[in-house]
Amino acid sequence: MSRVYNFSAGPTVLPVSVLEQAQKDLVEYKNSGMSVMEMSHRSKDYQAIFDQAKSSLIDIMSIPDNYEVLFLQGGASTQFAMIPMNLISKTGKMDIVNTGTWTQRAMEEAKKFGEVNMVASSKDKMYSYIPELDKSMFSKDASYVHIASNNTIYGTRYTTLPDTGDIPLVADMSSNILSEVYDVSKFGIIFAGAQKNMGPSGVCVVIIRKNLIGHAMSITPTMLDYKIHVENDSMYNTPPTFSIYICGLVYQWVKDQGGVKELQRINESKANLLYDFLDQSSMFRGTVVKKDRSLMNIPFVTGNEELDDRFIKQAKQLGLVNLKGHRSVGGMRASIYNAMPYEGVKTLVEFLKKFEMENK
Ligand SMILES: Cc1ncc(COP(=O)(O)O)c(C=O)c1O
Repeated sequence: MSRVYNFSAGPTVLPVSVLEQAQKDLVEYKNSGMSVMEMSHRSKDYQAIFDQAKSSLIDIMSIPDNYEVLFLQGGASTQFAMIPMNLISKTGKMDIVNTGTWTQRAMEEAKKFGEVNMVASSKDKMYSYIPELDKSMFSKDASYVHIASNNTIYGTRYTTLPDTGDIPLVADMSSNILSEVYDVSKFGIIFAGAQKNMGPSGVCVVIIRKNLIGHAMSITPTMLDYKIHVENDSMYNTPPTFSIYICGLVYQWVKDQGGVKELQRINESKANLLYDFLDQSSMFRGTVVKKDRSLMNIPFVTGNEELDDRFIKQAKQLGLVNLKGHRSVGGMRASIYNAMPYEGVKTLVEFLKKFEMENK
């Protein structure tokens, strides 16, 4: 077996122990006589897998009793429409902080259902920072405030959450869920596509405060109404059974690592290793203001496209793959999610040093 260090923004690296467990279970899950993929979602065996995944997530995120946990399809992108359809009708208006592609997409979708107020934006500096926010900036009559807690493409994250008072805070946590400790009670909704820190693509986790359920616009399709999914415990229709099963294994892995708090400590040390190198390098530099740097996605550049390309090619030959930056930023991006071992970041930093020496 030869595994690379995969720095992809997602789908991306999963813990090897999870893959090995899935391999063991692949042809026959426990004594069921079939694989998880072949099970009816209404079977006792599958219900146990589902219940375990859900209760593990509740456990590792300390999700309070007044929240529901849903496993839905359509990716995080479907939430950009589902959220306004379910929440905006209270006042017909939502607030949003624009920190990149994913909040822009959320704005475009929300505009179809109500009034969108962009509270602040970091577009002026290529989304390289998180705007300063003050409670007075939010509309008193917004139904909710939408943010992306971590910006996968630009490598920024909120280090403090905005104070929105009584207005529900909705967070797109696709690229940093389970990477640091969050107090779930501060949010109205947390949503996250699984394919970065939780499992394979195909499932989107939605954590929603109970008092926000049951207010969908009358035009809302059945499949986009949170109430339907809550009433049916995410099984109104066939859920993405295999993806949820893998998520359950990943949640168990998180527990085995010592929980989210311990992963946060490891993530901080991984990110610091790379940032410390970038800060002293005369060839490479990070693109984000220091105080808003992501723990998960680290874009960096040399300022010379030809050098960037050479670096990416040579890194690949050493098994350091998917380091090409997003097309809108260029350069490189190292996504170092929970399952990226410390050793992977260390190997990357060693190669960065060597490359700098050799290409002075
Ligand atoms: C922060 C964020 N939100 C939303 C999305 C879209 O997710 P999906 O492809 O599951 O729709 C992504 C994808 O990378 C993302 O990084």
